[in-house]
Amino acid sequence: MTDKELVAEARRVRDNAYAPYSGFHVGAALECADGTVYTGCNVECGSYGATVCAERMAFGAAIAAGKREFVRLAVAASEGGFCTPCGICRQFIFELAPDIRVLCASPEGGWRELGREELLPNAFELERRE
Ligand code: THU
Repeated sequence: MTDKELVAEARRVRDNAYAPYSGFHVGAALECADGTVYTGCNVECGSYGATVCAERMAFGAAIAAGKREFVRLAVAASEGGFCTPCGICRQFIFELAPDIRVLCASPEGGWRELGREELLPNAFELERRE
């Protein structure tokens, strides 16, 4: 799949976002090392803190399907400029795929790639016990 196709997937799933509070619709498409793609959209909640971003929904779907290696993530929002992952999602991405390519799309369909060093400088990292 090309970068353009992965961005198109993120834009497609963006239309399924449940965002009645912000009106800000986000889609994410996550490519695994085996070439499979899992998607996610943001799901909001009236108890705002329970809202889950599109990126974490995509990772959750892939992890639940048994995937552990990820190579590319495309993120697309309904408005604004290039949609870059929020802080919580950056920590999540750092946890599961620190070397992943992140394509931040604009509503019009263009994108810019987030550099690996831009993802989460001085990241918090906990020692793994398992
Ligand atoms: N949101 C995402 O889904 N991903 C991001 O990277 C930024 C924010 C969602 C969360 C919330 O539903 C809405 O966008 C506004 O913050």
